[in-house]
Amino acid sequence: MAATARLLLFLVASFLASSSSFSRVAISTTSSPASPRNVSLALYYETLCPYCSNFIVNHLSKIFHDGLISIVDLDLIPYGNARLGSNSTMSCQHGPNECLLNTVEACAINAWPDLSIHFSFIYCVEHLVLEHKYTEWESCFSKLGLDSNAVLNCYDSGHGKELELQYAEKTDSLQPPHRYVPWVVVDGQPLYEDYEKFEAYICKAYHGEPPETCLGLLPKKDHKMKADNHVSYADEMISSSIAAVHGDAKIDMVV
Ligand SMILES: *[C@@H]1O[C@H](CO)[C@@H](O)[C@H](O)[C@H]1NC(C)=O
Ligand SMILES: *[C@@H]1O[C@H](CO)[C@@H](O)[C@H](O)[C@H]1NC(C)=O
Repeated sequence: MAATARLLLFLVASFLASSSSFSRVAISTTSSPASPRNVSLALYYETLCPYCSNFIVNHLSKIFHDGLISIVDLDLIPYGNARLGSNSTMSCQHGPNECLLNTVEACAINAWPDLSIHFSFIYCVEHLVLEHKYTEWESCFSKLGLDSNAVLNCYDSGHGKELELQYAEKTDSLQPPHRYVPWVVVDGQPLYEDYEKFEAYICKAYHGEPPETCLGLLPKKDHKMKADNHVSYADEMISSSIAAVHGDAKIDMVV
């Protein structure tokens, strides 16, 4: 009798011991240090805005060379200050050519989900924009050895328009709403006119071991906000009110 009880106790105890060691194993695997979350970086832009092209070509492209890309989830949203009219007609700040190129870049993102591929295409097109040669945008396919079919079919089939409507919704639901382009958002926070310092914001937002680049970007002291604005405002009313605040704003207005 007592032996049976002892045996029972032993069995229960060993079951508890094994189950608790099992759960320790389970807990220790699930709580092992997770690799730190990437910082989200979103660029809301339009293809023919000079400040947008300049940002993409001369600033954003740096993350592909200095290692920051390894801690960033980059999202490009080519819609900017475009507007939807009745029946989903779209009008773009710099005219129909901008709507065309916004759609082409949306198609490139869709056709080549690999960031390094679609970014290289967008970089190429925006480089042409800076050189006032954007009408040669189709040369980017052969320059980069990319097959044009997927992008051209996307555009011709109307799929590109659908993508643009999704970008319109994404842009128009921004909180806080965008006020101009380029509109750079790091982990949900817009950088406003400080956007050219986006790398410092990324480094600050990252919780893991920072890439070496970040060491040189740690804030030393407060910088005074630059007086001139490298942005393109959505419309005259907003831009004039902001210009009133900032004095000598460089404004890229609707023609
Ligand atoms: C962060 O982004 C890089 C490059 O885009 C990717 O290789 C890596 O897996 C991402 N890390 C995490 C934790 O998601
Ligand atoms: C809306 O657009 C469709 C497709 O372009 C066209 O067939 C239709 O007539 C348009 N409707 C109005 C009210 O403009």
